[in-house]
Amino acid sequence: MVRLTVNGKAHDIDVEPNTPLLWAIRENVGLTGTKYGCGVAQCGACTVHVDGVATRSCSFPVSDAVGKQITTIEGLAQSGVLHKVQKAWLDHDVPQCGYCQSGQLMAAAELLKNKPKPTDADINEYMTNICRCGTFQQIRAAIHAAANA
Ligand code: FES
Ligand code: FES
Repeated sequence: MVRLTVNGKAHDIDVEPNTPLLWAIRENVGLTGTKYGCGVAQCGACTVHVDGVATRSCSFPVSDAVGKQITTIEGLAQSGVLHKVQKAWLDHDVPQCGYCQSGQLMAAAELLKNKPKPTDADINEYMTNICRCGTFQQIRAAIHAAANA
């Protein structure tokens, strides 16, 4: 049994310590906004924040998340107010199929926390999440808009 704190709420779940955090979030906690893509820390679809750090949860054991604050896409808005990246994503119609987008948003939120006014080079370096629909230009525009919001 491990205790995970997800979006401010504690969950005691019965999983092996080496279970990927992604599965605990989706199957045990029941939050399915975080997606499974590659399973090998390459695509970013599974990105959540662990103590504020963007983390690819498919390759992160639950045992390493115990005692830490986990934030998923469901917890990015605060008190019903969308995060500025969420507002910018809507304004720029970023998602196509949407599958990669929760991971993109979590990565972008961390980027803006660390670099409030990122350059294109910063975005290129930081946003390594893959989008099969090719929404990269809209993502870039939305990040700049959120930075200036
Ligand atoms: S599913 Fe985790 S990085 Fe691809
Ligand atoms: S919006 Fe379809 S994979 Fe990114």
